[in-house]
Amino acid sequence: MHLIRRNRILRQSPAIRAMVAETIIKPSDFIAPLFITEGSGIKEEISSMQGYFRMSIDLTVVEVKELWSLGIKSVLLFIKCKDELKDNKGTEALNPDGLMQRSIKAIKNACPDMVVMTDVALDPFSTYGHDGIVEGNEIVNDPTVEVLALMSVSHAEAGADIVAPSDMMDGRIIAIREALEVNNLTRTGIMAYSAKYASCFYGPFRDALDSAPGFGDKKTYQMDYANRREAIKETLMDVEEGADIVMVKPAMAYLDIIREVKNSVEVPVSAYHVSGEYAMIKAAAKMGWLDENKAVMESLTSIKRAGADLIATYYAKHAAKLING
Ligand code: PBG
Repeated sequence: MHLIRRNRILRQSPAIRAMVAETIIKPSDFIAPLFITEGSGIKEEISSMQGYFRMSIDLTVVEVKELWSLGIKSVLLFIKCKDELKDNKGTEALNPDGLMQRSIKAIKNACPDMVVMTDVALDPFSTYGHDGIVEGNEIVNDPTVEVLALMSVSHAEAGADIVAPSDMMDGRIIAIREALEVNNLTRTGIMAYSAKYASCFYGPFRDALDSAPGFGDKKTYQMDYANRREAIKETLMDVEEGADIVMVKPAMAYLDIIREVKNSVEVPVSAYHVSGEYAMIKAAAKMGWLDENKAVMESLTSIKRAGADLIATYYAKHAAKLING
């Protein structure tokens, strides 16, 4: 054969492949989600997320310092609220001395440069496990948004750098931005879960926080996985309402959405490699069916290649260690 182009030339050695690699993941691409629980000295493994733990504030702070030393620049905080503090209005979410607020302060105190992001949604605080206030059988939008705005202000006042509303209520980004402005919290960013789908892949997360919906499902507020254009509509609205970063969630089954969002907006795009995606790799690796390290690197690189500037992933620490060598 007398070929003009032989594509295998640029694949022939590790050195040449490294030279032409288009996508390179690095620890600062990752957002490490953390589950925080009351008490001290507590580190409980989440049964459906092997190798991942709920920790009390003292051990969380140690973990954050380690993440920082590995080059990870941001953490995303979730708290496990005690049952007796749950109600229908998210009262505990607004407690200036609540677990979330104390966690933010402790982390910023111990590791001031770490970017602290906080989950803003009612489900961990809700007796119903829903992301909003329940009236009858309905998750009511506007009263929920009022609480989300107050919650964001409370997190910002405790020192959060970025609030991350994960609830999918309408109009919450503009409401949060206004509330931050009114309170002169002009340095707090908003990472909007803009295209968050009603997904079965959140199952293990709900075990971690004991936050599974008590009735029904989340399909009246989270998006239908059949839809693509709607993701762009949601995302463009969030950018107009003042979102600093937008997010697509989950990640692996939504790479097309990540790419389309990336092509549609000028703000950084994040993607959430969620609990079920973590659990799938863990389970297959445990069975000896997948090489965990390779599966992690391939998955996270694919999410970045699809267009994610940032990746929230339970594999953040694991991948950072692999990358750092
Ligand atoms: C709830 C919330 C969920 C996740 C992040 N925030 C679960 C849900 O919507 O039911 C899921 C994250 C994961 O599965 O890793 N506001």
